[in-house]
Amino acid sequence: MIDLIAGARPNFMKIAPIIRALEAMRDTPNSPTYRLIHTGQHYDHKMSGSFFDQLGIPEPDVNLNVKSGSQAEQTSAIMMGYEGVLTESAPRVCVVVGDVNSTMACAIAAKKLNVRVAHVEGGIRSGDREMPEEINRLVTDSISDLFFTTSRSASENLLKTGANAADVIFVGNTMIDTLQYNLDKLCAPEAWEKEGLSDSKYVVITLHRPSNVDDPENLARVLEVIVESCRGMKVVFPCHPRTRQVLGRARSIPSDLVLLEPLPYLEFNYLVKFASAVITDSGGVTEETTFLGIPCMTLRDTTERPETVTLGTNVLLGSDPEAVRQGMDVLLRGEWKKGQIPEKWDGRAGERIAQELKVRFF
Ligand code: UD1
Repeated sequence: MIDLIAGARPNFMKIAPIIRALEAMRDTPNSPTYRLIHTGQHYDHKMSGSFFDQLGIPEPDVNLNVKSGSQAEQTSAIMMGYEGVLTESAPRVCVVVGDVNSTMACAIAAKKLNVRVAHVEGGIRSGDREMPEEINRLVTDSISDLFFTTSRSASENLLKTGANAADVIFVGNTMIDTLQYNLDKLCAPEAWEKEGLSDSKYVVITLHRPSNVDDPENLARVLEVIVESCRGMKVVFPCHPRTRQVLGRARSIPSDLVLLEPLPYLEFNYLVKFASAVITDSGGVTEETTFLGIPCMTLRDTTERPETVTLGTNVLLGSDPEAVRQGMDVLLRGEWKKGQIPEKWDGRAGERIAQELKVRFF
């Protein structure tokens, strides 16, 4: 049996294609069985359930229901919960995806019980150790047995730190598998009609990183600069619960901002596909915009996904929102770079992962 771990929103689109590929192998000789473990790191329907529904992910076999907490509280609750599951029955391999607290916590719990760990999206590095995700990546990769990477540079990062070349497999990007698989299912959110949105006439923003959103006045300023630099174009902001809480404490926020609840997958990517540009501090969104060829401005100093900048449509603006003004000038002059789709972002990463797991462990 394989344990597949998913805990937070960006995990769900990464795990869906692996599940689909494992299901497609069902009833073939030596086909792997799996158990889906939801840690409960994200628990609102809008952050979790809607993704299961839309992406056809089966009900989890186990839900650890850990919910929110400080970094250590959440991580330790996941470790304790998963350790209990492992002591009842251990899988042949534990597959963790991405870089959230659930990824690191389950990798540690599994390894300490001598269960082998495979890390999907291993090897990416921002170099910024102030991000909780970077710590999660470093710890997870330092104890994983097998790595599935999204780029050659991620594979190189692992080899530089001594990983065994035979255990580092460049498979492509499961998040892009999910986008490709769902491209013709994308659908307009309610706000499309209500706000009179139309093709290339609005900007989408997503912000949830502590460095951008934890201070209410800083967040309000970021939003103000963005709205001003969009010069009358609508600015649509599907808002993460963490950001929403902070906004509630800000003195004022631009009144013409279109503030939405977190959107389901198909609605969110519809908005992205028809946007003039996306302004974000997410990593996954920079991959989706690169695939869709939509201009993307990242409000961060670093990225763990360099191919979105060197090949794709993403530009790192840094953490000063004033840079959005220059970014919007380039966009409005029609001079944004066109971008290319990175190698092996071909919709088949999930299949490659399932096949490798089968060969190695079954
Ligand atoms: C987590 C990941 C981040 C990822 C993001 C995507 C870590 C360290 N961070 O950040 O890498 O990009 O998910 O969304 O794992 N909350 C709710 N409902 C929910 C979930 C969260 O209201 O379903 C609120 C809670 O108040 C919580 C806060 O959001 O305290 C933050 O949630 P948490 O899971 O700690 O981290 P994220 O900011 O979501």
